[in-house]
Amino acid sequence: MDSRSYKDHFFKKAKVQGYRSRSAFKLIELNDKFKFLKNGIKLLDVGSFPGSWCQVAREKIKNGKILGIDKKEVKAIQGVKFVRGDFLDKKLKLIAVEYFKSNIDVILSDMAPNTTGNKSVDSIRINELCLAILNFSKKTLSKDGVVISKFFMGEDFEEIRTTAKKCFKKIDFFKPNSSRNESRETYIHCSRLST
Ligand SMILES: C[S@@+](CC[C@H](N)C(=O)[O-])C[C@H]1O[C@@H](n2cnc3c(N)ncnc32)[C@H](O)[C@@H]1O
Repeated sequence: MDSRSYKDHFFKKAKVQGYRSRSAFKLIELNDKFKFLKNGIKLLDVGSFPGSWCQVAREKIKNGKILGIDKKEVKAIQGVKFVRGDFLDKKLKLIAVEYFKSNIDVILSDMAPNTTGNKSVDSIRINELCLAILNFSKKTLSKDGVVISKFFMGEDFEEIRTTAKKCFKKIDFFKPNSSRNESRETYIHCSRLST
């Protein structure tokens, strides 16, 4: 399938299934592989606009607590709380901590800054967001918690791997089929927090 028909395929599939974006299928694939969406969990989704990951989380989690954060306003989803703001801002991190009141079970980040067209700059910027998520997770995740974050396979990949390895005993990398082949986007899955 070429890039355009690939995009169209997932776009149509999302429309038919009522998802706000085709990104929904990336989370579905990640969950099929790592099985982290469980009833009763506390889940933080950072970079949640337009909301398809929260839609999927809402379908799969019963009696849980879900918080979505994005710089952009996200249209309401029943059973999900959204806060608008920049996750790099200390205030937003405090809001997340206060909202859950205790440690978080699953932290997801699909954050992506606006692209500049310069591959190297784009990769550095997205990977800074991934590092921010890893650093936040080591302070806020529950003992058996899981963090999944998008990053770009690029020159600073080694820094992500080293940081993750310091904080977690188990790390995996996964590129969903619904993520375009030509995109350098990949996801890191971390579990078993080091004490
Ligand atoms: C690819 S979209 C996320 C799609 C989402 N997972 C979904 O399924 O609907 C990336 C989002 O990251 C957000 N973002 C980028 N940097 C951010 C930051 N520093 N704080 C909060 N959100 C951010 C953007 O506003 C954008 O909406």
